[in-house]
Amino acid sequence: MKKIRIESELEAYDDLKELPKDVQDLMRAAFEARDAAYAPYSKFHVGAAIQLENGIVVKGSNQENAAYPSGLCAERTAIYYAGANHADQKINTMAISAKAQNKETLTPIPPCGACRQAIAEYEVKQDQPIVIYFMGERGAVFKSDSLRNLLPFIFTHEYL
Ligand code: THU
Repeated sequence: MKKIRIESELEAYDDLKELPKDVQDLMRAAFEARDAAYAPYSKFHVGAAIQLENGIVVKGSNQENAAYPSGLCAERTAIYYAGANHADQKINTMAISAKAQNKETLTPIPPCGACRQAIAEYEVKQDQPIVIYFMGERGAVFKSDSLRNLLPFIFTHEYL
């Protein structure tokens, strides 16, 4: 028997203002996307903004449904839009912001497991890391240089 240790490193910033202007702009696009969330059931609004290599910004928000499992998270709404409409463009960065309606969301909100798996697919496809920033409605921002920091042991096409 041997033990396998997995290390994962993220950067934590106290405030968005500590980050470069292009990141602030992308996070502001995530705020805008968040405002367009359709979340009448959870009242938890999430926005994601994706920066493509050609500079185009693609936005997505969570879209809920009365048949609950039919809804989709913000991150997958955004990344599937990018995949469907800009298939030849690599994804450089994703910024995510979440805000609950009934309380302040001040801690960084990471993408859920299913969204991590979806983002992993595109990172593997483009053979280039996707930088991910995530936060609540204000306050601290976490940065991951690659999806792999958020999801070790990703399931990829290599296993098929
Ligand atoms: N949600 C996202 O949009 N992204 C995540 O990574 C976590 C959860 C949405 C799904 C649902 O509409 C609401 O937040 C509550 O789970």
